[in-house]
Amino acid sequence: MSKKLIIGNWKMNPSTLDEAKNIIRKTRTAAGKLHNTNVVACPPFVFVFSAISKRDPDTLEVGAQAVSFEEDGPHTGEVSAAMLKNLGVRYVIVGHSEERASGDTDDVVSKRVKAVVEAGMKAVLCVGEKVRDEGGTYLEALKDQLRNSLARVPATAAKNIILAYEPVWAIGAQEAMQAQQILETTIFVRKVFSDVFSQNQAMKALVLYGGSVNFRNAHEIMIIGKVDGFLVGRESVNMPGFVELLKAVDAVAD
Ligand code: 13P
Repeated sequence: MSKKLIIGNWKMNPSTLDEAKNIIRKTRTAAGKLHNTNVVACPPFVFVFSAISKRDPDTLEVGAQAVSFEEDGPHTGEVSAAMLKNLGVRYVIVGHSEERASGDTDDVVSKRVKAVVEAGMKAVLCVGEKVRDEGGTYLEALKDQLRNSLARVPATAAKNIILAYEPVWAIGAQEAMQAQQILETTIFVRKVFSDVFSQNQAMKALVLYGGSVNFRNAHEIMIIGKVDGFLVGRESVNMPGFVELLKAVDAVAD
């Protein structure tokens, strides 16, 4: 049985270092009590360094929310994959819909995934449709998005990719997507991944769901949606909600 994976995407929160440290401390304590679940926190860059524990880097792993695809040089405001890796970062979220909305094309996403895996970290590749239509054309769009976002990624890197299915309409919403729909769509996402790489790689890959997950709906989505974990936004900086979410996920037997 492989462990579940819960990744907290803090987005642009909180406002102070003290608050960030507090969230990290509470999350690490909660993560230390889990048996079946790995936990990753992805704070904004300015808090990443203080989130990494030199003494205990495994109980709560740390990820970043963004990365440059350039190696180094004159790129004002950018942070390279090597910088993150050398700091102790193990995961990077790539292709989030909020980054896509501010200009990231599939090709740019693909370059970022490549930079992350080549630096020796895991890429959390986000995909998801903007809207759902009755006819199912969104599935074609989802397929294209995933394929194109993987276009520059060598097959040897497949094991370092975590898929995060995040329907854009369910992000920051009142309710998550229905668990049954999550089941169907994540099977589809895994199938596309299998077509791009191999069935073997696809069976081993972790497929997460993201979009309005909280401590109330986490258990049901795990059971019915059969996902390998979650990419959590708001609830990941909301204590004690996130601690309850972690407990709910950990209680689900495979
Ligand atoms: P919410 O959990 O706040 O809906 O955000 C989801 C998300 O975008 C995680 O990456």
